[in-house]
Amino acid sequence: MSDPVTLHPPPAPSSAPVPTAFDRWAWVPIRSLAARHRPRIAAHLTALDEHDRYLRFGYPAADEQIARYVDALDFERDELFGIFNRRLELIAMAHLANSPAPGPDNPRAMAEFGVSVLALARGRGYGGRLFEHAVLHARNRGVQTLFIHALSENTAMLRIARKAGALVERDGPETEAWLKLPPDSLATRVGELMEQQAADFDYRLKVQARRVNDILEAISEVKANIGGKTPIASE
Ligand SMILES: CC(C)(COP(=O)(O)OP(=O)(O)OC[C@H]1O[C@@H](n2cnc3c(N)ncnc32)[C@H](O)[C@@H]1OP(=O)(O)O)[C@@H](O)C(=O)NCCC(=O)NCCS
Repeated sequence: MSDPVTLHPPPAPSSAPVPTAFDRWAWVPIRSLAARHRPRIAAHLTALDEHDRYLRFGYPAADEQIARYVDALDFERDELFGIFNRRLELIAMAHLANSPAPGPDNPRAMAEFGVSVLALARGRGYGGRLFEHAVLHARNRGVQTLFIHALSENTAMLRIARKAGALVERDGPETEAWLKLPPDSLATRVGELMEQQAADFDYRLKVQARRVNDILEAISEVKANIGGKTPIASE
């Protein structure tokens, strides 16, 4: 995966890394997000421009509305996943909202999928990977139907849904997509476990790399300060 993608300062569009064929095939670490990730989730969502917020939420959510959405996230009931860059910024994330369906034996029969990828990280397959990950996760939790609500103009999102075999129903400017999920299997359970462990390992490596980087930066700052001081002999 091409890195780093940074949230700030926003680079000029021309500096966006061009996705390569390798990007689309490379393994992408997807981590489960927890309550402690709220600030990173908020930073990710507020980095979306007005049009992207409109596509993601169905309205051009203001920063305060995003803050309320992030505060209200229920990490017990729902599943949130993300892709981090080397700076540990969240460059892509998905929200799988579990909705209880009627019937005591079917408490989690349906889930709604929402996703966003930062503009600079698009076209590398992250949106599609997050969807596949959500499907795996949902199957392992007994979800039978995945639901996506998208604006009809949202070609990329609808392409992801269609490719997965979802039933897509357009109603003017809005479109709903329904994907029936097969039950879980040994392969889906092992697959999720391995993905989770590899992604956790990748995240720990990034944390270590960032610490080493911070130390190196501090050392070079100290060196620069020492080098900038007037030598004692000339005082
Ligand atoms: C929708 C979104 C998540 C897609 O993310 P992404 O990482 O760029 O998507 P991918 O790279 O996995 O591409 C998915 C498919 O859409 C296609 N695609 C991507 N961008 C496209 C575009 N602008 N126009 C047409 N097709 C596009 C890709 O070619 C790919 O199809 P393929 O697998 O057949 O090649 C991203 O555009 C986004 O965050 N948009 C704003 C928020 C949003 O719309 N959320 C969805 C509503 S919940």
